[in-house]
Amino acid sequence: MEGENTKPKILIFGGTGYLGKYMVKASVSSGHKTFVYARPVTKNSRPSKLEIHKEFQGIGVTIIEGELDEHEKIVSILKEVDVVISTVAYPQFLDQLKIVHAIKVAGNIKRFLPSEFGCEEDRVRPLPPFEAYLEKKRIVRRAIEAVEIPYTFVSANCYGAYFVNVLLRPFEPHDDVVVYGNGEAKAVFNYEEDIAKCTIKVINDPRTCNRIVIYRPQTNIISQLELISLWEQKTGRSFKRVHISEEELVKLSQTLSPPEDIPISIIHSALAKGDLMNFELGEDDIEASMLYPDFKFATIDQLLDIFLIDPPKPARTAFE
Ligand SMILES: NC(=O)c1ccc[n+]([C@@H]2O[C@H](COP(=O)([O-])OP(=O)(O)OC[C@H]3O[C@@H](n4cnc5c(N)ncnc54)[C@H](OP(=O)(O)O)[C@@H]3O)[C@@H](O)[C@H]2O)c1
Repeated sequence: MEGENTKPKILIFGGTGYLGKYMVKASVSSGHKTFVYARPVTKNSRPSKLEIHKEFQGIGVTIIEGELDEHEKIVSILKEVDVVISTVAYPQFLDQLKIVHAIKVAGNIKRFLPSEFGCEEDRVRPLPPFEAYLEKKRIVRRAIEAVEIPYTFVSANCYGAYFVNVLLRPFEPHDDVVVYGNGEAKAVFNYEEDIAKCTIKVINDPRTCNRIVIYRPQTNIISQLELISLWEQKTGRSFKRVHISEEELVKLSQTLSPPEDIPISIIHSALAKGDLMNFELGEDDIEASMLYPDFKFATIDQLLDIFLIDPPKPARTAFE
């Protein structure tokens, strides 16, 4: 029928979260009928949750309230959609096995993207707290492969705004910046809006079915020291560099109480050791900026300009 929306319908778990909100907006703005499966708003919910629900409803998102163990409810909503994206956080990683099971039962889902969006977890071996974190993501990967539902695993590398806030702290007055390790290892910083927009391209692309897609644009590879210098040029300020050595980071990962041992181990891996760039991409790898040459990821320079004009708020993903 003329005017009918034939684009795949997308269901997002974790859509009210940090990455989820970008994903929902990218899905809606690319014309997909978008559904969000979220826990119900109750009198104990944070006020921002109600705001998010209202905002989503205002842009035409259908919110289905439920818990991740409501199997029948999840199967019935799955039957209404084509693609499922999960952006749940660490405490719910293994709950995604329930989503995997429901997708298998529903039998109609054309693509599932589990909550990955970080490093390529099959190619890094970080410190134990981060390793245990990644192991949960790997368990979900292996379960998806075992039940043979169509998938894409997205390795988005560092969320740009999230990590700029961690490293440069534009949200507070300060004269120092912490440099993790010697500051020379390279990392990849991608703006969250682009990660979400690119992911919506990925779900529509037959070339990415049952594949890992790595977001590693050449323009977005930078070391901490280079990032700090660039920020100094833009702000006209200079910051004292305070180094925390790799050895100190290892020690912290062993002495901090859980869950604080996780973020420090992530920093050790991504920033001090440079794990995101410690493996070459081969002919068999799919890298997003090569796959979509017309899609322009905001460069790091442009990302810092966003911080000068309208700084994204600092955030912290859930670790417990
Ligand atoms: N690459 C990077 O730099 C980077 C940085 C941060 C995170 N990440 C990754 O990004 C992904 C998403 O993380 P995020 O920080 O966006 O997540 P988040 O904001 O911490 O949480 C996502 C959603 O999980 C839901 N949730 C929370 N507690 C729950 C519970 N008990 N039961 C069911 N649902 C619950 C909430 O939705 P409702 O309240 O609506 O149910 C919440 O909005 C993860 O895979 C994480 O590892 C990557």
